[in-house]
Amino acid sequence: MQKSVARRDRSQVTGFVPTMGFLHQGHLSLVERCRENCDICVVSIFVNPAQFGPKEDLANYPRDLEQDLKLLSKYGVDQVFLPTQEDMYPSGYRTWVEVEGWSSILCGASRPGHFRGVATVVLKLLHLVQPQKMFMGSKDFQQTVILEKLLQDLNLETRIIRCPIVREADGLAMSSRNSYLNAEQRIQARCLFQALQQAKILYQQGTNSSQALIQVAREIISAAGGRPDYIKLVDATTLEERDEADDNTRLLLAVFIGTTRLIDNDALSA
Ligand code: PAF
Repeated sequence: MQKSVARRDRSQVTGFVPTMGFLHQGHLSLVERCRENCDICVVSIFVNPAQFGPKEDLANYPRDLEQDLKLLSKYGVDQVFLPTQEDMYPSGYRTWVEVEGWSSILCGASRPGHFRGVATVVLKLLHLVQPQKMFMGSKDFQQTVILEKLLQDLNLETRIIRCPIVREADGLAMSSRNSYLNAEQRIQARCLFQALQQAKILYQQGTNSSQALIQVAREIISAAGGRPDYIKLVDATTLEERDEADDNTRLLLAVFIGTTRLIDNDALSA
């Protein structure tokens, strides 16, 4: 396994999995998919300061590079790219990209600048790695929609391959931030998946009003002691809020469990 990005033979398909490390089964499922679909699999690990707000958890963001490298070697990754802060944002750095509008709603409303940081770092990583395919998990649904728009608007050839959310046995979506939860909060955190499940049951029984679907989700989250940041039914393509659920809507939630903010989402129809 090489620990840098090498020049590659363009006849081979390069797949890319960008990560911030502290790898879990969700990341590893992307690596597996990348290896199945591409000749070369590149994984980056870079905790991107530009996507953390001033009051967010950059300094405490979980890191375990030794364990990450062991896992990536076990999963047969060809190259691991470990840029430094200086490689990505040398002193005097001034260039930023932003997908307008979509970056300031939903998670972007409570995390100003977050998606500007994500879009900028991903664009830089794509220039450095030059993959034909980039593998992304659907837990970060808004991120994936924004990055697809970025690739389309900037005429990049890389295609995003959306991969399913990987869940713990009790339904909690895997996330590096789950490691912040204590035992009691870990049980409370089940409410995100339960809320989505209950809304899905309601939808499949014939309720399509967003108000009713959001209400049931809100009740489940509040009963468990979670504090919703937002619960929204949106158009899965444009992220616009919708009054009625259909095959192209998605229920998105961000919920505080204690001080940890977790996200999850589901297409209620599937
Ligand atoms: O989803 C993530 O882990 C990050 O936002 C990403 C895409 C690696 C950019 O830093």
